[in-house]
Amino acid sequence: MHTLTEEINHLKKERRAIILAHNYEPPEIQDIADITGDSLGLSVDAARLDQPVIVFCGVRFMAESAAILAPGKTVLLPRLECGCGLADMATAHALRSMRRERPEAVVVTYVNSSAEVKAESDICCTSGNAVNVVRSIPEKREIIFVPDRNLGAYVQAQTGRRLILWNGACPVHDAIRAADIIKAREKHPEALVMVHPECRPEVTQLADGVCSTGGMSDFVRQSHAQEFIVATEEGMLYPLRKAHPERIFHPVSQDSPQRMICPDMKMITLKDLRDALKKMEPVITVNPEIADRARSALERMLAVPRN
Ligand code: 13P
Ligand code: SF4
Repeated sequence: MHTLTEEINHLKKERRAIILAHNYEPPEIQDIADITGDSLGLSVDAARLDQPVIVFCGVRFMAESAAILAPGKTVLLPRLECGCGLADMATAHALRSMRRERPEAVVVTYVNSSAEVKAESDICCTSGNAVNVVRSIPEKREIIFVPDRNLGAYVQAQTGRRLILWNGACPVHDAIRAADIIKAREKHPEALVMVHPECRPEVTQLADGVCSTGGMSDFVRQSHAQEFIVATEEGMLYPLRKAHPERIFHPVSQDSPQRMICPDMKMITLKDLRDALKKMEPVITVNPEIADRARSALERMLAVPRN
């Protein structure tokens, strides 16, 4: 009788597959993955990997980006219904209408969006490179920023550029209030506060560091502090605690009725992962014409220097 982990490792070899997992995935999924990381790191990996099969443990837009950046490879998403509440807030149709009203504007689209929306965009960004992406656009060009108004507001504050913001937000990050940060600081006065840029401007303004999930790992590595308050989806606590068992991490939502949990990031189980490798499905495919246009926007993003 083999354990699920043994079966997955055996099938992985047989299929010449590699498993990628986002930082918010459950601990057992992160532990079995070959690579874990944030959206930017995982897209870069998807584009450079040699394996013919990528099993993406994350949400649909991430697996779609991998399929777009690695044409010819098979990308599996173990649970097809893993979506993203933020990505659902923009449609290609609505973006086309906005573009018609402002034909001169450059459209910068956060990767938390569908392939169809990316295909209508000039350049993509992630939470890890949004500031650099906007800085790479000539000053005189007007910019439409899609779909996260909070990330857009953060980029606006960092770059001094006025952006036209799409009215979308992540339901998990947008629910955190400034009062939650103030309360957590009172409780843990020695701790540094790390906030994801999908949080509201009045929340990011209270942070010691505003970072993507990968950026939070770097922030902790470079800091001498012993204690941190973490304002992002609670899954992020696992990689932080694993990498730094001697330090203390407090989820900001620990004592709040508003826990920071993204249900879509908690769906994939080891059994789903085993079944995906066994049946080689569900496969993520993107219409080739949409994929070509979305790839241009993603590749322009990847060409922007990372500091
Ligand atoms: P990161 O790119 O920071 O990993 O964030 C992805 C995401 O979905 C945040 O909610
Ligand atoms: Fe989307 Fe928010 Fe979940 Fe991230 S945490 S995948 S932005 S719904």
